[in-house]
Amino acid sequence: MKAEPCAYVIFGATGNLSRTKLMPALYHLDAARHLPDGTRIIAIGRRPWDQATWLAQVKEMIQAKTREAVDETVFQRFCERMYYHRGDLEQEECYRELADVLTGQNHFSKNIAFYLSISPSDFGTVMESLSKHDLFDEEYGWRRVIIEKPFGYDLDSAQALQKRISHYLNEEQIYRIDHYLGKGMVQNVLVFRFANVMLEPLWNRNYIDHIQITHSEDIGIDSRGEYYNSAGALRDMLQSHLLQLLTLVAMEPPVSMGAEALRDEKVKVLKSIRPIPKEAVHAHAFRGQYARGTIKGEKVDGYLQEEHIPPDSVTETYASMKLYIDNWRWRGVPFYLRTGKRLAKAQSSISICFRHPPLQFFRDTNVQCMNPNWVLLGIQPQECIRVEMTVKEPGLEMSTRTTSLDASFRNSDEKAIDAYEDLLLEVLKGDRSLFLRFDEVEYAWRIVDPILQTWAIERDYIATYSAGSWGPEDSRLFDKESQSWRSTLTPECQ
Ligand code: BG6
Repeated sequence: MKAEPCAYVIFGATGNLSRTKLMPALYHLDAARHLPDGTRIIAIGRRPWDQATWLAQVKEMIQAKTREAVDETVFQRFCERMYYHRGDLEQEECYRELADVLTGQNHFSKNIAFYLSISPSDFGTVMESLSKHDLFDEEYGWRRVIIEKPFGYDLDSAQALQKRISHYLNEEQIYRIDHYLGKGMVQNVLVFRFANVMLEPLWNRNYIDHIQITHSEDIGIDSRGEYYNSAGALRDMLQSHLLQLLTLVAMEPPVSMGAEALRDEKVKVLKSIRPIPKEAVHAHAFRGQYARGTIKGEKVDGYLQEEHIPPDSVTETYASMKLYIDNWRWRGVPFYLRTGKRLAKAQSSISICFRHPPLQFFRDTNVQCMNPNWVLLGIQPQECIRVEMTVKEPGLEMSTRTTSLDASFRNSDEKAIDAYEDLLLEVLKGDRSLFLRFDEVEYAWRIVDPILQTWAIERDYIATYSAGSWGPEDSRLFDKESQSWRSTLTPECQ
């Protein structure tokens, strides 16, 4: 699919996401000549800035994130694409003026992408207002809307939001973001699985003991206290990014890379996840909250000392859960998912543990115990694919050690591309394969809803963990003694 020029209208352009991700990503796309001629960016913000002030802000945003020094020629070209539109989302005139700007003398493209980088509570109102001013009318060009997560707060609110926005838009116009799908290594999970024939016979319950998906961060909640305290780790990371990773690891081969084929298979996985009954929530899920501790040698506050956090908050900053996929491929294989803030280190990875081989063959040797094979997919910061094997140690004795076969994702001369670059470009191409269809979001909420409901009632106690540790003691989730969290991508002695 070819990228087509459009007017990229960014609601919330002065906010954090725009500063740290959207503007730098658009600039990098422009620098790499990926933005089609005629593409313009309309930044909507409430602040009383003129064009020059906005451009100075944009330069700062890019400087803070760019991989190399800002190229003045590229930046000038980028500035020519920019247009700052001052407006208050709650005021009718913001939309009237926007409609005038878009259809007036400025020669904006007739294709328009609206990026809602705003509070989810404003999604409905903004769409209603855009619709009222005929801005979703596709008579002369396409109209697409990009919606940031979270899509809803739970199953009911997600369904209500969907119902509301479907008055104004059809599904083909909606691009629901899960930025994990824009990450190179996440896309590599599919290539690894479906371009290597040797894996397919092994990728099932006959050979795989269990699968772990970890997303750990060493940062806390920064200035997002208000949002985070009402969300918590389960909503913020697990319901979205981690369940998406799970679908990619577990799905059947789709008939093609096309959006519908891919999403059909992902939805099948989500639908096959065994529902967690309320009485089994404690056996399947665990939550914790960080207390004071030390990160990279520095003392840091606990969650309750962070800004905007009520002193009696039981919001979880760590969540883990165990899921089973009741289908032919995965029946009986536990999937363990965990995420947390202020953990020992920042790392996202998928670790696939294979079954133990029989030890009978080695009965008369020094070999007492062997590590199982692991396939390790490092998503970030280390991007790698590793297959751990047992080999003989050199020497006269029969002893073994673990070694790993490494396929790194990127050579040292290959540039890292931010997930948002890919996602912003896909919108111009009209390719929705890296975006979520509503049923994916809906089934993901169905999976976590019983846990959310139980935790919402149990407000007296939450386990804590020291900042800088690997989280609370949640080993009760594991099915067998031989299973435990794996936190490294290098061979572990077990
Ligand atoms: C966001 C969450 O969706 O993902 C944040 O709201 C989290 O809390 C972030 O820090 C993690 O994304 P990444 O790309 O830094 O792993």
